Amino acid sequence: MENSKNVEEWNDFNSKHYQKGSEFINYSFLSQLFEQVIAKGNVRDIWFPGCGTSIVPKVFAELGFNTWATDVSDFAVAIQHEFTEKSVEQILEYGRRISVQNEQGELESQTLVNYLLMYHCADDYSFEKQGTFEVVNHDFRTSFYHAKFDCIVNIKAFQVFLSNAQRQIARVHYDALKSGGLAVFQTQNIVGKADLELKASLLNAGFHIQGFKTSSWFWNTLSEMLPLDLLHSYGVFEDYFWSDSDRQKYSKTLESLRQEFKQRSERESEETAHLLNDGETKVAKVFAWSG
Ligand SMILES: C[S@@+](CC[C@H](N)C(=O)[O-])C[C@H]1O[C@@H](n2cnc3c(N)ncnc32)[C@H](O)[C@@H]1O
Repeated sequence: MENSKNVEEWNDFNSKHYQKGSEFINYSFLSQLFEQVIAKGNVRDIWFPGCGTSIVPKVFAELGFNTWATDVSDFAVAIQHEFTEKSVEQILEYGRRISVQNEQGELESQTLVNYLLMYHCADDYSFEKQGTFEVVNHDFRTSFYHAKFDCIVNIKAFQVFLSNAQRQIARVHYDALKSGGLAVFQTQNIVGKADLELKASLLNAGFHIQGFKTSSWFWNTLSEMLPLDLLHSYGVFEDYFWSDSDRQKYSKTLESLRQEFKQRSERESEETAHLLNDGETKVAKVFAWSG
């Protein structure tokens, strides 16, 4: 009994406290996100559940998309409301302030500026065709529209929940998406079993995830083969931090496992390719990030 109370308190954590520092933007993910959304085509309406204080939803609005930025935290919602009033230049200035330098010493937010300029010049996405920007205080464990969005982008807000809540959240995302829509998730610091469980909650809601069967086969086989410490470091860094003797010990089996992974991946991709653009199937893509 005491346990289940704690579980509820954990799941409710964010409505009472804001996780400071979450506004850090992973710019390489951002470029993947742009590619995914643009490649999807015909995307107009995008929902950013658990948006925090990120400038990403507002940037998408500036690019011409209709965006909904929602969060359960009053603090995050207040910051998003402030963005409503800000010009592109002010938003980018904010992005620059919270940005870090990459190895070449350039501000990583320059990537964002480049995207804005690129789409500013492109025919389909321009500031003249500015999209709408809606900010709503919303708990994504409860429903938010039905079959409304072409795309949903959940950045680092899904992976912390326990399995029941995760399944419920997956259903809310599935339900809010139009048929044939795309849901993109960036997760933070979860690998292996936890990553597969999160994906299983999405499959359970009805989403298709390309390559799921092969990646779960790979991880399960790996778990039987490697001791726990090697398994966990492999999940994030492959064999980069292994000792030479460990690398030697497992290199042959790992190599044949990788070969089989490749073959299985190709087969699975071919078998399921038709689901990606049938206009019906709702597809989820999960990008893992550690940091
Ligand atoms: C790690 S932060 C990520 C914020 C933002 N997506 C970003 O990329 O910077 C997680 C966010 O999820 C929000 N969140 C947590 N539980 C939520 C819930 N049940 N409904 C809506 N938002 C929630 C938190 O308030 C927080 O803003």
